Amino acid sequence: MDVYNILYEQALSPAALDFLESSAMTKYNTMEIGERISSIMQSPYYSRQAIQHSLELGCVDYIKLSEKLTEQSRLLKDIQLGRRSTRVFKEYISLAELSACLSSAYFITERFEEHSHHLARRSIASGGALYPIDLYYIALNTEDLDSGVYAYNPHYERLESWLHFASKEKLQREVMKIFPPEILGSWDMKMVSGIMLFVASLNRVACKYGDRGLRFALMDVGSICQNLHLSACCNHIACCAIGGYLDHEINRFMQFQEPNEQVLLTMFIGK
Ligand SMILES: Cc1cc2nc3c(=O)[nH]c(=O)nc-3n(C[C@H](O)[C@H](O)[C@H](O)COP(=O)(O)O)c2cc1C
Repeated sequence: MDVYNILYEQALSPAALDFLESSAMTKYNTMEIGERISSIMQSPYYSRQAIQHSLELGCVDYIKLSEKLTEQSRLLKDIQLGRRSTRVFKEYISLAELSACLSSAYFITERFEEHSHHLARRSIASGGALYPIDLYYIALNTEDLDSGVYAYNPHYERLESWLHFASKEKLQREVMKIFPPEILGSWDMKMVSGIMLFVASLNRVACKYGDRGLRFALMDVGSICQNLHLSACCNHIACCAIGGYLDHEINRFMQFQEPNEQVLLTMFIGK
């Protein structure tokens, strides 16, 4: 292994790259995936089996957990009780609301000296403190923010301009190619304030952990997604994670170099 090229060599195995490709949503498998999802959702038997599941060990000894909570854990529980995926938006959020949501969800918690080999710690746990996920925001209808695509820089807690469009309508047309109506179903895109993208730089984590780094990247997505949900709840913002989008189209739109750079999840934001 050449340590000087470590960030540029493909560190994922062909099997891991195949997994990324076989799990992608494309124009050619959208219908098949859609049919599968709706047949599961229309079947009460499957819904019951899948959703009402619990771990059943039968007749075993058990220890009832105490219901005593500290004030802070009660607060945390209350925030989680308020969290839900919202699919109907009625108002647009403002830049101030977006800022509050982002900067209390994913931020730097500890900085080290400039030339230290330690990386700044962030508000989520991350394998090897490598933080392979970056957030980007497609501003469609966010008050006080020009429409366009922005990268969120947690070090300076700011949005950095990534892609410009001649008009809001042009941006919306491009976004509709990524989330076509057959995937979106009943969503009213005109009411979506913006779309958060969870973007992996897979080599950042695979150069150290190989294929296992792919798992770690997915876990970071989960942590950030939950933090964003909770932060949205605290800031009276509505959101819904959306896993249905055309992978290659979204990566092309974002000008990412697949497979190293790619969107792993999106989240619609509104009010
Ligand atoms: C990875 C992931 C992908 C999701 N994709 C979609 C989606 O494409 N469309 C949708 O309507 N909801 C989507 N959701 C939201 C879930 O359906 C929702 O979290 C689940 O129904 C539980 O509801 P709750 O979040 O309100 O508790 C997704 C959630 C996650 C975590």
